[in-house]
This record gives sequence, structure tokens and C-alpha cells, in this order.
Amino acid sequence: MSEEVTYADLKFQDSNQTENIQKFDKSEKKELPVPSHVWRQRALAATLLCLLLLTALGVLGGMFYITLKTGMEKLNKLQNVKEELQRNVSLQLMQNTNSSQKIRNLSIKLEEIATKLCRELYIKHREHKCKPCPGEWMWHGNSCYLQQNMAKTWQKSDEICSDYNASLLTIKSKSVVEFIKSLQLNNYWLGLSPRKDNTKYRTLDTIIPLDWFTRNTSVINDKMYCGYIQYGYLFYTKCTDTKNIICEKLAQTVKIDSMLMSAVLDGNK
Ligand SMILES: *[C@@H]1O[C@H](CO)[C@@H](O)[C@H](O)[C@H]1NC(C)=O
Ligand SMILES: *[C@@H]1O[C@H](CO)[C@@H](O)[C@H](O)[C@H]1NC(C)=O
Ligand SMILES: *[C@@H]1O[C@H](CO)[C@@H](O)[C@H](O)[C@H]1NC(C)=O
Ligand SMILES: *[C@@H]1O[C@H](CO)[C@@H](O)[C@H](O)[C@H]1NC(C)=O
Ligand SMILES: *[C@@H]1O[C@H](CO)[C@@H](O)[C@H](O)[C@H]1NC(C)=O
Repeated sequence: MSEEVTYADLKFQDSNQTENIQKFDKSEKKELPVPSHVWRQRALAATLLCLLLLTALGVLGGMFYITLKTGMEKLNKLQNVKEELQRNVSLQLMQNTNSSQKIRNLSIKLEEIATKLCRELYIKHREHKCKPCPGEWMWHGNSCYLQQNMAKTWQKSDEICSDYNASLLTIKSKSVVEFIKSLQLNNYWLGLSPRKDNTKYRTLDTIIPLDWFTRNTSVINDKMYCGYIQYGYLFYTKCTDTKNIICEKLAQTVKIDSMLMSAVLDGNK
């Protein structure tokens, strides 16, 4: 820029000199420096304007850069906070899951302890309030048993148990075998599937893997044979014969508060 100005100046001076020489005779000495002065001022103004514009551009650029930079920094910070929040939330969720799992585990343990305690109480007092079986029903393992001395056909017996939301007696574990032996049952129907043919008697210890009755798969008619228990043995007879009934259903869970209440009452006696 300054080079151009210098070049222009030089040119002016040259042409001025030529003019000076040509118009030397006209002798108007004071008019000659005026154009040169105006041009200088204009050139200077243009230069200043250029510089001003450049500076403004620089300032604007700087401002833009700073704005961009702080914007990016803010964005990064936000991104970090977001990631931290996500981490915190998932950690919290994990801890919540842990806590509810711990609570569940604790209540399972508590229930086990309550059941154990209730069994002890039940051995001493058959009618103890903590018993998870209705009134007359006996409690063994996870099941309740109702013994009824009334002679009915197998199908009628099954219906009677159904009305209790129960089924005819089944013997599916060694523990139940022992329990049933201890009851010394004579002539009680079993919840085995009715068969088309009669069969030899067998001991209770070999009864567990037999074909236990399920209501929806078994077809029953009057010519079939049904299993019953006579002391320690299983026999088959016509399903239309009449025998006594034992119903069986799942025990409820032992209610901890009911047990605590009755324990307090027992303690006061
Ligand atoms: C994340 O959890 C830590 C420790 O529990 C806490 O100091 C921090 O403030 C939490 N971050 C957010 C964004 O809540
Ligand atoms: C959850 O529980 C397990 C075992 O109780 C423990 O090792 C683990 O650190 C726990 N996790 C949290 C996030 O609290
Ligand atoms: C809860 O019990 C289950 C299985 O018994 C076990 O895998 C889990 O770690 C237990 N949770 C806690 C938080 O103790
Ligand atoms: C059997 O179960 C049904 C429905 O679950 C219930 O309404 C009824 O009271 C129950 N009967 C007995 C004797 O428990
Ligand atoms: C019969 O009932 C048992 C449960 O009592 C069920 O698991 C089984 O799928 C049923 N079978 C049919 C054929 O409906």
C-alpha cells in the first residue's frame, strides 16, 4: 500500500516538474503544491481506513474466536456433567437393585426362621396360631392334610377335596412316607391315576415314582381300579368301592406377625 503511494507521489512529482517547466512562464507558483497535498491526504485517509478496517476485522475475529472457544468449553463441561449424571444414575440404580435384593433376601431368611420357629411351636401345641394350615388341617412339610372318616367312592372323594381347593393324598417324598406311616391310615384313597387293571399290592416305600393323578389328563370310568392305603401298603380296588378321605393342599407362608403376637401371649400365661 505504502509502495503504491510512494509510486503515485513520484509520478505526481514527475508530472509536476514537467508542468512546472511547461508553465514556468505563467509564473503561478502558489497553485502548484495544492493537488499534491490533496492526493496525499486522500492516500493517507485510505491507508488509515484500511488499517481501521483491518483492526476491526482482527478484533471481530478475536471476539468470534473467544466466543467459539468459550462455547466449546461450555459444551464440553455440559457433556462431562451429563456423563457423570449418567454414571451416577446407573450406580444409583445398581445400588437400588442391590438394596431391594438384600431386602428380599432378608425377608426370605426371616420367613425361613419364622417357619422353623412355628414348627417347634406346632409340635408342642397343635393348634398354635402360627400354623399355616386352616383349623383342622395337619401341617407337614409344605403341605396341609385333612383327614375325614367318611366312606365315599374315589371320584366323590376327589370332588370333596376339590371343593377345599385340595387334592387327594399324594406321597411324593420320603419325608411324606414317614409322616403317613406315623398316621397309621387304614382304608384311605390315594390320589393315584385310576388304572384299567388291578395290580399287586406294594409297600409305601416304593410308591413315590408312581403315576399321580392330574385332573386334566386322566379319564375315569366305573370299571377302573383306584389305589388306597392300608397301614403300610398300597392296594388297588374298584374305584366305585368306598374308602375314607385325606385331602392335601399347599401350606400358606407362616405369618411372622401372627406368630410374634401369639408368642407374646404365650409368654404372658
Ligand atoms: C455424582 O456422585 C458423586 C458422588 O456420589 C457426587 O459428588 C457428584 O456431585 C455427582 N454428580 C452429579 C452430576 O450429580
Ligand atoms: C451389590 O452387592 C454386592 C454383594 O452384596 C457387592 O459386592 C456390590 O459391590 C454391590 N454393588 C453396589 C453397586 O452396591
Ligand atoms: C441375594 O441372594 C441371592 C441368592 O441367594 C444372591 O445371589 C445375591 O447375591 C443376594 N444379594 C444380596 C444383595 O445379598
Ligand atoms: C378356593 O379357591 C377359590 C378361588 O381361588 C376361592 O374363591 C374359594 O374360597 C376357595 N375355597 C376354599 C374352601 O378355600
Ligand atoms: C394339566 O395340568 C397341569 C397342571 O395342573 C399342566 O401343567 C398341564 O400342562 C395340563 N395338561 C394339559 C394337557 O392341559
